[in-house]
Amino acid sequence: MPGSLGHLTSRFFEVLYAQPLRSEEVLEVESWLGPAQAWLFFSQTTPDQRHGYQAALVARDAGLGPTGMRAALLHDIGKRHARLGVVGRSIASLAIKTRLPLTKRWRLYRDHGLTGATELAALGSEPLVVEFARHHHGDRPPAIPERTWEALQLADQPAKTERKRAVE
Ligand SMILES: [Fe+2]
Ligand SMILES: [Fe+2]
Repeated sequence: MPGSLGHLTSRFFEVLYAQPLRSEEVLEVESWLGPAQAWLFFSQTTPDQRHGYQAALVARDAGLGPTGMRAALLHDIGKRHARLGVVGRSIASLAIKTRLPLTKRWRLYRDHGLTGATELAALGSEPLVVEFARHHHGDRPPAIPERTWEALQLADQPAKTERKRAVE
């Protein structure tokens, strides 16, 4: 499932106003990921790259190391298969939440965690990276420690965190 109504609303505006990563941010991402993971990351849309990058910064601020940052960077890579824009994502999310019949692309969007996890596992990604992608809209799996899970969940709310930072 794509997430709660609050999460979806934040993501709507985040997607709408997302700016491409600057050259120095691209270099940072490339330094955090291997070549195959970086290819996946940069195959995402601009809003999803911005979301993953922001999530990695929040994860780092929360005390997570490189593996946690990679989990944050890559958790939504499965979304790119659905090829939905901001309006399409909103409609898909409403359809999922209200249990309407889903089109193929809406099902791809709903299942982006599992799809991304499968791709990341095929690249030999660390278990935390794979398991966070798989479960990030669900419940914490036993393999992810509680503190790590909470930090990654916080990282997956970058719009809220950006607002929080702006008033600090
Ligand atoms: Fe997601
Ligand atoms: Fe996300």
